[in-house]
Amino acid sequence: MWTGRFSQATADLVLKYGESISYDWKLYRHDIAGSIAHARAQLRAGMLTQAEFEAIESGLKSILADIEAGNFDWSIKLEDVHMNIESELTRRIGAPGAKLHTARSRNDQVATDTRLYCRAEIDTTLSLLQEMQRALVAKAEQYAEVRIPGYTHLQRAQPVTVGHHLLAYVEMLGRDVARLQDCRRRLNVSPLGSGAIAGSTINLDRAAIAAELGFDAVTENSMDAIADRDYIMETLFCLSLIGTHLSRLSEDLVLWSSAEFGFCTLSDAHTTGSSLMPQKKNPDVSELTRGKSGRLYGNLVSVMVAVKGLPLTYNRDLQEDKEPLFDSFETISLALRVNAEMVAAMRINEDKCAAAVADPLLLATDLADYLVRRGVPFRHAHELVGKAVAVAVGSGTPLNQLTLEQFRAISPEYGEDVHSVFNLDRAFELRTNPGAPNPANTARRIAHWKSLLG
Ligand code: ARG
Repeated sequence: MWTGRFSQATADLVLKYGESISYDWKLYRHDIAGSIAHARAQLRAGMLTQAEFEAIESGLKSILADIEAGNFDWSIKLEDVHMNIESELTRRIGAPGAKLHTARSRNDQVATDTRLYCRAEIDTTLSLLQEMQRALVAKAEQYAEVRIPGYTHLQRAQPVTVGHHLLAYVEMLGRDVARLQDCRRRLNVSPLGSGAIAGSTINLDRAAIAAELGFDAVTENSMDAIADRDYIMETLFCLSLIGTHLSRLSEDLVLWSSAEFGFCTLSDAHTTGSSLMPQKKNPDVSELTRGKSGRLYGNLVSVMVAVKGLPLTYNRDLQEDKEPLFDSFETISLALRVNAEMVAAMRINEDKCAAAVADPLLLATDLADYLVRRGVPFRHAHELVGKAVAVAVGSGTPLNQLTLEQFRAISPEYGEDVHSVFNLDRAFELRTNPGAPNPANTARRIAHWKSLLG
């Protein structure tokens, strides 16, 4: 493949070790778009005749069509997607093909391709994220008022609603959307024209190339453009964080669908059986989603480690950026799709939720607030309620069934209306501040997300 300088053919093992075509073929669409824009700039600079440009453009388009139809043979002898496509172009159209690589290097080419790839995949991920948000909002609306215990330390804490709980994830995914949009803005800059490291003595119109490819601007330093992969790491971080959020939802659903909680039932279509135990219905989708967050982090870490010790500018280590990048997009896209579908098909078991939320201990904090409203400092109120809880637990009596005398024996600050605290309607009505699980707040957030998500 290499001519001129070399007198020996590349060793087979080196070909096998160094090829990237087995995975970077996925960049073909972006590679071809970049080449057409580059050729058009050559035409404008008078470096190609109209006929030569047209031969290049139609040659590249015919290659694109063949790849999409599955009629293209990738060769590991040609190492990567860039050389496979360029060499096939020259085979098809002859001399003009050999002019395409003027004022360009695979170094600016690969940076361009991966930026275009990230941009396109981010757009897909954004719409899948919104699809997931829609599924959660619909479920939150369906069960907006179903009360459940909220947990801290996985211990019953205070009453919330299924609506409020699911909307927490909608908020998280909303920030994931904003983060990806922000990352997209930063990476949408054209490196083409940076050449191998120091630009070129042949000056093509970089701004025109960038505009044709839908970039917002051109990179301002050729060495930075060739060497850095921050846009890949940032993208991988954004995807990792989506993975984290999905993983926590998964953990909630694993718990909720267990007999111990019983808050939800996942559809048969989204669960699996056991080869041994006939009764089992396993939440594999949630478990896999929880597990796959690990590989998302792994992909991020592997690129960060690959890049951190590299002297400027291009080093072949950078070729290791692609498999993690592709894998993370493929992983997150399937995770979002299957989870959206699963959430849409999930049922909430209102009787189980009602039984769990009937635990009067969930209102112990409300009881302390009741004392505060009667003038008791919170720390003191906390202690007085703690004592009541101890009496209740010690005597096997539900907290709300302690008699007025029992409360008064702990403290005269308990009034005759102490039992009125144990009323869930009231508990939710009192929580009027923004962000609290008051029904009106939940309805307002549902309306907000529905108008935003369409
Ligand atoms: N396949 C290479 C990569 O992914 C393309 C750039 C090669 N550049 C070079 N100087 N060998 O990084």
